[in-house]
This record gives sequence, C-alpha cells and structure tokens, in this order.
Amino acid sequence: MTPKSAPAAGVPAQHAGGTTGRRDPVPGSGPAHDLGGPVPRDGECSPGGTEPRLGEHLKRQLAELCEAAGTAGDAARSLLDTAAGPLTRFSLLDPPPARSLVSDDHSPAEFSLAFTPGAPPVPRVLLEPGYTDDMARSGRVGRRVAERLAERGVLSCDRLSLLADLFFPAAPHGPFAMWLALEFPAGRPRAKVYLNPAANGPGRSADTVAEALARLGYGDAFPALRRYSDGFLFFALDLGDWPAPRVKVYATHREFSAAEAAAVSRAVPGDHPGRVEEFVDLVAAGRRLRRRPLVSCFSFTRAFPDRPSGYSLHVPVRDYVNDDHQARDRAVAALHRHGIDGRPLDRALAGMTSRPLDAGVGLIAYLTLTHADRCPPRVTVYLSSEAYGVKPPRRNAAGLGEPGPTMVGG
Ligand code: TRP
Repeated sequence: MTPKSAPAAGVPAQHAGGTTGRRDPVPGSGPAHDLGGPVPRDGECSPGGTEPRLGEHLKRQLAELCEAAGTAGDAARSLLDTAAGPLTRFSLLDPPPARSLVSDDHSPAEFSLAFTPGAPPVPRVLLEPGYTDDMARSGRVGRRVAERLAERGVLSCDRLSLLADLFFPAAPHGPFAMWLALEFPAGRPRAKVYLNPAANGPGRSADTVAEALARLGYGDAFPALRRYSDGFLFFALDLGDWPAPRVKVYATHREFSAAEAAAVSRAVPGDHPGRVEEFVDLVAAGRRLRRRPLVSCFSFTRAFPDRPSGYSLHVPVRDYVNDDHQARDRAVAALHRHGIDGRPLDRALAGMTSRPLDAGVGLIAYLTLTHADRCPPRVTVYLSSEAYGVKPPRRNAAGLGEPGPTMVGG
C-alpha cells in the first residue's frame, strides 16, 4: 500500500466537524487495489461479474464476527442488507465514494465485540447508510433506512422524529449526518442512531446537545456535561426494544492523561475511577493521549433524569501502538484484567482479515471500558473493516510521541 492510502490517521482534525453541506473529496485516493485493499474472496462478487462489492465484504465480516461470538449470523446478515441501504452496491475496485468518518480508510462500517464477564460477547456493527459527502442527502438516506428497519419491527422512529428539526436542518454541516448501529445479542437485534451535534454549525454543537437533552427530559444534566467536555462528537439514541433505552452524549478530551480521564468518570457515581485510570494506562502504555483524543460517552436513562447513569471511555488504541499485534495484546490484557476470555477476539480477528496482525495498524480502532449502574464493567473492542485500505505499521515507537514508562503486552 502506498502512503496516500493512510488517510490522516492520528490527526484529530476528524473530530473538528463543521464542513458545510459537503465533505471534501477523499484526497489522492486511488482504486482499492492500489491501496493494498482486500483481494476478492469467494462470495464477494456481484452475481453476474467478478467485481467485489462492499456489501458482500461487510456481510462476510459480520458472519465471521457472529461465528467468533457463537451467535447465529443469518438474521444479522439479512438485517445488514436493510440497514446498510445503498452502500452495499459500491465496488471495492473504485475509491471510497465519500470521506466517511466511521473508519480511517473511509469505509462506512465498523464492527465491535462487546464483552461482559461470564457471557458470550455481543457482535455489533456501525454503519453510515447515506454514504455520500452531500450531508442533506446522507441524512435523507439514513432516515429512510431507519423507517425500513421500523417496518421490520427492529426499531421505532418516535424519539428520532422528536429531534429531526435539530439534527436534520435544510443545509446541514458535516462531518456526518446519521449513523446507525445494530447489535446482535442472543434473541432480538437492537438498534441505535448517532446524530451530529455540529449539524447546525460547529459553533452551535453545545446548544444543539442542550436542546436535544431538554426535549428528551434530561435538560438538568447538561451543565455538568459541558464542564467535562472540550467538544461534542455524537448524540446517540437507543431505538426500539431495549430494557432501558439510553440517550448518549459523546464528548472529546484532548491531550488527557489517565488521571484526568478518571476524574471525568466521576460524573457517574461508583468506585470505577481507579479502573478507568488503569485501563487508559494499559491501553495507551502510560502515555498522555496527544495523538488522538479520548472520547467519553455519558449515558442517560429514565431512572436518573439529572445525571448520567453510565460512563464509557473510548481509547483510540490505534494511535498508541506500532501495529495490530500490539493492539491485540493490549485488548487481551484488558479483557483478562476484567475476568473475560480473549479467545473470541482472536477468532474474530482471524475472520475479519487474512493479513498478519503486525502487517498493519488500525484494524483494532478503539478499546472501551463501560460502567453502567449495577452491571459489571464491560470491555468493547472496535474492529475496522479495512474495506478500502490498510494503514502500514509504525516500525518503531519513535512515531508515538513521548515514550511511556512501560509497554504493556507489546
Ligand atoms: N472513526 C471516528 C473516530 O475514530 C469515529 C468513531 C468510530 C468513533 N467509532 C468510534 C469514535 C468509537 C469513538 C468511539 O473518532
């Protein structure tokens, strides 16, 4: 792969938001085969031809993820067709058609495995159904896909409709319009949507989040959130059949240390701050997070209208390792620390890609620690699709900024 295929990894500008209406075209991107992208596999070709399609690539990866998790994958694959919308038809021989923020290589999809001690991991997928740089159109496609999922009984659009004027203005700003996530626990699939706080302009993100929280009954919680955050990344809603549907606000923290992250996690009562600090130190190998910000997610449920009831910390591990082998070791160390078996992760990694883990960096994008009321801590591993390209490994730690005191699991 050539350097041109490594889109701005490590550059936190992705979080800045605020492009008007359209995202810029992908700079210098060539066809997928020039990017060291995937070689077509069996079943990834269109019925009448030989072209590998994005939809088949993603379906195959989702099936592998479900198998690694020990979950039946048929329902998941069929739902992916509905949820992904028109993006499934793109050819992987063409460059990515839009500057999707979902993944570093602009793939409009990201997978994850959510691990809880003593239970099988839950496979999940995050999608940008309106995969285009035209934000108004992207929002329209996203909402149409949500309506189709509602027709299939997967979700209800009621809470989304309550916020539509806020997040889908006539001339929306980027960097995205709407993402959709599906998770596949045993039993019924569950859906979430992700909305863009900067839709009315980056300078209005905080007001947009405040208004959205107020409409959903959480207005009193906003002042504390504002204090803790230096930017708002996503406003997310659980839609459909959730035991306690959440509203979630994602906030960024630039150049934080592990101790500063632990301090923010105190927004949610509990004895987790020590574990949060330890987790960040493990994942970022003791470094201050200068290359890409930490992301906090504060979640709200009916039981506590004026404060978050859950807290997740997303650590962008890909910017703090040399390659995915190192990222995998840190993920397994974090899982073991929380009493969780790492073998499903190894199965998932083997299913997602045939490349050696040390031949690239970014397959494991984030490692996340979640604390929610009365539940044991959960560890989530985010896995890139790498549909359009693989970022080359860093050959030594020199590119990683200030050295950490220890390299955990490396
Ligand atoms: N790719 C973007 C980023 O790295 C957005 C994103 C995708 C993200 N998955 C995420 C952000 C999980 C936080 C957590 O920021």
